[in-house]
Parts: sequence; C-alpha cells; structure tokens
Amino acid sequence: MEAYSEKVMDHFRSPRNVGEIENPDGVGKVGNPVCGDIMELYIKVKDGVITDAKFKTFGCGAAIATSSMVTELVKNKTVEEALKISNRAVAEALGGLPPIKMHCSVLAEEALKKALDDYRQKSVKESSEKAA
Ligand code: FES
Repeated sequence: MEAYSEKVMDHFRSPRNVGEIENPDGVGKVGNPVCGDIMELYIKVKDGVITDAKFKTFGCGAAIATSSMVTELVKNKTVEEALKISNRAVAEALGGLPPIKMHCSVLAEEALKKALDDYRQKSVKESSEKAA
C-alpha cells in the first residue's frame, strides 16, 4: 500500500472549514458514481473575491483531505484565479497523492468548478434583475 503524505494525513485527521455556509453565493455538489463518494462545496464571494469556503464530504480520506485543502486554497482568491485551480494543484499542495487516489482530487476540482459556475449564474441573474 502506498503511504499518504503527512499533509494528507493532517488534513484528513483535522480537516479545515468543515460545514455549510448560510446563504452561500455558490454551491457545488458532485459525486463519483464509481466509489459513491459525495462532496459539497460552499463559497462566499464579495467583490469578485472568495471570502469564505466550507465543505461537506462523505467520502474516503483522500476526498476529505482534498476538499479541506481546496477550501484553504480558494480563500482570498478571485473567482478567475480559483477557476484555474486544478486537481493536480490541490494534490501537489497536499504533498502528492498515491496514483490510485488522484480521482479523489478530481472530485474537489469538480466541486469547486460547480460552485464557481453556480456563483456566476447567480450573479448574472442578479445583475439582469437589477437592470430590469
Ligand atoms: Fe471516492 Fe476517494 S475513493 S473519492
């Protein structure tokens, strides 16, 4: 069995930003049909900058560690910067993942992208409502 890095173990044992955000500006819910793991990511955005991020993950240790890391990585980033965060960047920030666990980091990237999409759709709607 391949070992996990210290950082993965740390984020798995004491994940950061667990929970839900009330009235989030964006929510991303994704699941992996193969393993059945589910991840939910919430973001708060102010003036185009992500001010808060929280997650709920029902999944394996690597899924929990990558969601924890992704919430840390996106904070204080602009929406554009956050869109560029790839699953590899998340895995790298964790000191790497065993190859068979890379798909778990894909879940984190997808959840983030979905939350950002949700935010953009909402803000488009809001500005068109304001204009109307
Ligand atoms: Fe499902 Fe890791 S095994 S996300």
